[in-house]
Amino acid sequence: MDSNSTLTGKIALVTGAGRGIGRAIAGRLAQDGALVGVHYGRSEAAALELVEEIRQNGGRAFALGAELGVPGDAGAVFEAFDAGLRKEREEYGGYGAGEEGVREEYGRYGAGEKGEREKGERGEGEREEGESAPAAEGSLDILVNNAGTSGSGPVSRATPEIFDRMIAVNAKAPFFLVQNALPRMRDGGRIINISSLASRRAFPESLAYAMSKGALDTMTLGLAKELGGRGITVNTVGPGFIETDMNARRRTTPEARAALAARSVFDRIGRPADVADVVGFLASDAARWITGQYLDVGGGTDL
Ligand SMILES: NC(=O)c1ccc[n+]([C@@H]2O[C@H](COP(=O)([O-])OP(=O)(O)OC[C@H]3O[C@@H](n4cnc5c(N)ncnc54)[C@H](OP(=O)(O)O)[C@@H]3O)[C@@H](O)[C@H]2O)c1
Repeated sequence: MDSNSTLTGKIALVTGAGRGIGRAIAGRLAQDGALVGVHYGRSEAAALELVEEIRQNGGRAFALGAELGVPGDAGAVFEAFDAGLRKEREEYGGYGAGEEGVREEYGRYGAGEKGEREKGERGEGEREEGESAPAAEGSLDILVNNAGTSGSGPVSRATPEIFDRMIAVNAKAPFFLVQNALPRMRDGGRIINISSLASRRAFPESLAYAMSKGALDTMTLGLAKELGGRGITVNTVGPGFIETDMNARRRTTPEARAALAARSVFDRIGRPADVADVVGFLASDAARWITGQYLDVGGGTDL
């Protein structure tokens, strides 16, 4: 693995990591030394291939599948995550040293004034129906809400079903993934939400999509405030156009490609690694003093 192992001992979960931007993020976090849960919805083969690639490079990863945007999705993700992590630990040994210092600084849970929760007390909304089995406390350091769906079309073409789908996958699923993640997450953890420049620019061609990303941005702000006491940072990464399946239909001719590239001051379309490197930084200790922020990762789009 890379000698710059800034995340050694950390455990990460990246949603939608079989392909596109999520794949690059999972690879980057693994390269930095994290044990990575590679979540997929439909792309099981691609997720398994990435896990194999990470292992061959000396890293650690396991795959977990669960569809997002359906009832009980967050619980299903963490059920699969817990099972995958257990198996990984049985086969390859424990993981996740080094948290004690962080706990001392911020307290074990950090929610209350002394950072201690009353025995048996539950945070509001915890362990709802569909949530996974009792959390394997200390089994997570980094949650990257990357999975997303687009193509909602302009307001004239939207239907209630399309609107609900955008919100369910891009906003509701990350919200409940966070809710399930928090009892597991060690103090000093990281939550990184992959939004889009569409929430910060007028984006009428995919309005419901843009709105769902706006909801995600708002979640970042509130969570950053709430979780500061635990030393958990929460940030949004907003990519511009990145060369993935998501916008393949916008790149079908050389002219269309050139037009997309021209949106950036660097005159090229972004690559998944352009986003993954920023996520790697935010996940690292070097970014400990950055929280509640929206990082524009658009290569100077529309400057
Ligand atoms: N590409 C861009 O230009 C761009 C720009 C701004 C923001 N973004 C954001 O970046 C993130 C990643 O996008 P991408 O470009 O990598 O897109 P992509 O290539 O289309 O990949 C989407 C990913 O999300 C997962 N996913 C989508 N719907 C899902 C569902 N219902 N259940 C479970 N997983 C689901 C997919 O998993 P499976 O294949 O396993 O189902 C896949 O891994 C998204 O949040 C997107 O909004 C992308």
